[in-house]
Amino acid sequence: MRVALGVSGGIAAYKAAELVRLLQDKGLDVQVVMTRSAREFVTPLTFATLSGHKVSTEMFGGEAGGGNIESAVEHIAVAQSIDALVIAPATANVLAKMAHGVADDFLTTLCLATQAPAIVAPAMNVNMWEHAATRENLETLRRRGVRVVNPDEGYLACGMTGAGRLASLESIVQAVCKALGLREDLSGETILVTAGPTQEPIDSVRYLSNRSSGKMGYAFAEAARRRGARVVLISGPTSAEPPSVHTLERVRTAGEMAEAVFRHVDSADVIIMAAAVADFRPANHHDGKIKKLAGPQIMNLEPAVDILAELSRRRRRTGQMVVGFAAETDNLIENAAAKLRAKRLDMVVANDVSRADAGFDVDTNVVTLLFPDGRTIPLEKMRKFEVANRVLDQVAELRRLAASAAQQ
Ligand SMILES: Cc1cc2nc3c(=O)[nH]c(=O)nc-3n(C[C@H](O)[C@H](O)[C@H](O)COP(=O)(O)O)c2cc1C
Repeated sequence: MRVALGVSGGIAAYKAAELVRLLQDKGLDVQVVMTRSAREFVTPLTFATLSGHKVSTEMFGGEAGGGNIESAVEHIAVAQSIDALVIAPATANVLAKMAHGVADDFLTTLCLATQAPAIVAPAMNVNMWEHAATRENLETLRRRGVRVVNPDEGYLACGMTGAGRLASLESIVQAVCKALGLREDLSGETILVTAGPTQEPIDSVRYLSNRSSGKMGYAFAEAARRRGARVVLISGPTSAEPPSVHTLERVRTAGEMAEAVFRHVDSADVIIMAAAVADFRPANHHDGKIKKLAGPQIMNLEPAVDILAELSRRRRRTGQMVVGFAAETDNLIENAAAKLRAKRLDMVVANDVSRADAGFDVDTNVVTLLFPDGRTIPLEKMRKFEVANRVLDQVAELRRLAASAAQQ
């Protein structure tokens, strides 16, 4: 989804730089539009660098006009391409212009030209905020459906104290998400996700591992974070780029993964075990490299730690949810159902890894969700990010039901 961020000429303009990042964190593509006054406070280069897009500033000439038709009608192109317009900070001047339909620069013309929902976050001196003109302009805007994120009270840059400080960036992001219909249904939840393979050393240069790329676990971490969760990601070795999360821990072996999981488990409301943890490991570990000629003909293996089984044994906290994965090549549903029961899971994501378009190291997956009450939900082939969201839909619903049951 694409959002235009209008920045007008107030002291709080510098905070809009961080807002770009936070909106991007929600998966939004951000295009910045600045007024002439805003450019007195922050340079367009800052926003161009952060957003990865040219910053729109002028209607005529300069960067936006320049005599070619594409840039001359850029305000209409932007107006039609965005899903929301957020102005933060919004000056008293911009609010007045919006209320009266004035369109004398790029931003105010965009306000008239777009049909996307608009959100304004005013910031100004307390007297300007309390002035009857500002009040009436805001009333007009509210009546027309513009969402207003009211400023906070506190110490203002002008030296006065009172209402007028730009609202918290989190509340502005929330208003944008709400206007876009983005879900924030996991806010307040801590979700622990494991991802990737593990490596079990044979000697100091060789190991046993599997084909897991970590993409499925990373998709869970990213999707959960976008839905407002605090995410703890424990990742085995992978070349995939991890999403930005609250806590990222990198581990190598099943033993290290177990140790990290049990260190974080008590703070987690939901645990999603998407990692492909080794089932067995070499019984003997050699220091240094085993010489080619002296190489063993037979390698003895022993079971690696079973994190899920250990988790179901240690699980004390009521209401904590555990979602497991069953990666199978044969008898997918029977094997997954057996795992669900044996490990006392709240949900199993059954994953047919024999298919070329699903499972390990591809961007798509085909899974079936199984629940302890016997329900099964088969999902068609979809991108791993979408699979993660479908699973999280079920997680959010089960959490909601558990919370309302606890209240009764
Ligand atoms: C240092 C300084 C800080 C300002 N801070 C604000 C502010 O926080 N809010 C506001 O509404 N106007 C503020 N103004 C006044 C606006 O910059 C002025 O009204 C300008 O015309 C707004 O233009 P714009 O709405 O096109 O960005 C400030 C002016 C200066 C010089």
